[in-house]
Amino acid sequence: MSSRGNWGTRLGFVLAAAGSAVGLGNLWKFPYITYDNNGGTFVLVYLICISIVGLPIMIAEIMIGRSTQKNAVGAFKALFPQQWIWQIIGWLGIATGFIILSYYSVVAGWTLEYTLRSLTGYFSGLGPDVIASSFGEFLADPVRQVGWHAVFMFITAAVVFGGISKGIERWTKVLVPLLFAILLVLMVYSLTTGAGKKAIAFIFNFSSPISTHGMLEALGHAFFTLSLGMGAMLTYGSYLRKDTDIGKAAFTVTVLDTLVALVACLVMYPIIFANPDLQITESIGIIFTTLPYIFQSIPLGNIFSPLFFALMAFAALTSTISLLEVVVSYTVDELKWQRHRSVIVVSFVIFLFGIPSALSYGAVDWISSITLLSKGDAALNWFDSFDYLASNWLLPIGGMLIAFFAGWIMKVELKKAEILQGEGFKLINYGVWNFLIKFVSPVAVLLVLLYKIGIIKL
Ligand code: TRP
Repeated sequence: MSSRGNWGTRLGFVLAAAGSAVGLGNLWKFPYITYDNNGGTFVLVYLICISIVGLPIMIAEIMIGRSTQKNAVGAFKALFPQQWIWQIIGWLGIATGFIILSYYSVVAGWTLEYTLRSLTGYFSGLGPDVIASSFGEFLADPVRQVGWHAVFMFITAAVVFGGISKGIERWTKVLVPLLFAILLVLMVYSLTTGAGKKAIAFIFNFSSPISTHGMLEALGHAFFTLSLGMGAMLTYGSYLRKDTDIGKAAFTVTVLDTLVALVACLVMYPIIFANPDLQITESIGIIFTTLPYIFQSIPLGNIFSPLFFALMAFAALTSTISLLEVVVSYTVDELKWQRHRSVIVVSFVIFLFGIPSALSYGAVDWISSITLLSKGDAALNWFDSFDYLASNWLLPIGGMLIAFFAGWIMKVELKKAEILQGEGFKLINYGVWNFLIKFVSPVAVLLVLLYKIGIIKL
């Protein structure tokens, strides 16, 4: 066990898991989908999904990981050596981690370019159109696209190379508190200089209209934002010491992740609402087109702009670390690779697989026109296809199977031995958790999947 590594402290685990959960999903995606879904009610549905589906599945993942002290595949093998069928959950997880990291690292690379641009005063004096078109030009630059993707994969690999307590824990312990601090400063700044009241009313108006599609999106996002459904929390849980209260740790991580998502809205909306002529458009670009313009037109913007993009980069890094660790821990435990060799090989292969994603937005024409999947009538490029596949299908399917396994298959004594450990699961009651993981979480996800396939119509 000791050769696999362990978290040095209880706080180390909570910060690393919170670092995994808090990422581009919170800072970029949540504010944007909340805006699209008219705020209030969507936020409420999201909070319900987080509590009755997200939190129970997070507890289940950490429980399975710690009980077996194995990677995503090894854990199911250890619990049911004869029934290889359960290992499919692990395989699916490793593949999903591989896929998500390959394109996530591309967007993470953009945050590095934008940190640098804000630091060097690139945006000063430029109008909104020029700033927006410079984002397009950046996307169409193959060298910078692949270059930043390579840099981000390299930094991620360098941290994971150091192992659990000397690599991941050491860095997340610094980065996560730093990230929270920057975010709070930005929020105070934004609420006091922008349209704070309007922003708060938008987020907490629980009578705003919501569509069925919006409700599905809320559930899907609950998985992505909490890093659930692919064994990331399972893997982090496998390095967790036996004396930690799983319920409390999972609760803390979930609350932190949710707070960051809400605070991210409170950072962006007041600024955007104070500029009524600037529209949020449905694109990945808002953060890279609208915000840089706003930052350079408000007081102290030249300080807050690099801070903001650096924050995004840190948040992304603590997430990419967890994605890489899922794949690495599998090769270390199951294929008996040496950790260092594994990190080098795995991150290089993921880097290669991500290259077409980096070239998907116009950098190389024939690659940008590859369409693998479609969403409704829209054909999706390489980047969007893998994002769609992973967040809309692989994570919910993985999460549903994990919930089913934890609720119905895993032995009750084993579950109790893990969950009643530590401070005795006072915060979240075992019976309540067991009910949710058996009946509520898997059924909710199943209904959503059936709806997506078209078997259930509303
Ligand atoms: N949760 C991260 C975010 O919100 C992304 C992420 C990291 C993730 N690790 C994951 C998503 C594992 C799913 C599974 O940006």
